[in-house]
Amino acid sequence: MTKVLVLNGPNLNRLGSREPDVYGSASYADLVSSLTSYATNANFDVDVRQTNDEAELIAWLHEAVDTKSDVIINPAAFTHYSYALRDACAIVTSSGQRLIEVHISNPHAREEFRHTSVISAVATGVIAGFGQNSYLLALQQLTH
Ligand code: DQA
Repeated sequence: MTKVLVLNGPNLNRLGSREPDVYGSASYADLVSSLTSYATNANFDVDVRQTNDEAELIAWLHEAVDTKSDVIINPAAFTHYSYALRDACAIVTSSGQRLIEVHISNPHAREEFRHTSVISAVATGVIAGFGQNSYLLALQQLTH
């Protein structure tokens, strides 16, 4: 069975109330439930997690390598500056697992500091700008 870890970085637990004009009105709980029901229908295993802690996110990426899981990751603000997270993502893709970077908004259409992703160069692919559907598109691709 395909196993996918869906990892979310800082402040994404606040979806629904956090800048709804940018991130939409659907909550983090809504995201977990739509990904879980998609996975159940498609008969594969999905594990959706969120943390505000960079070290925890890195530990989960190491776990993905050890359990041979594919990864969907929204690194949130870490996208723009965390070389430690980039190195952990590179361990995932260089061990043969797929890793898709997702964003709810389109960072390229926003402030300049968001135009840089230190993650994209080591990701298998990037999906951004489709609201919470960005995750579903990534999931569709991984289970294609
Ligand atoms: C985000 C975009 C990032 O720039 C921002 O820091 C986030 C969310 C997105 O999903 O659109 O926290 O990753």
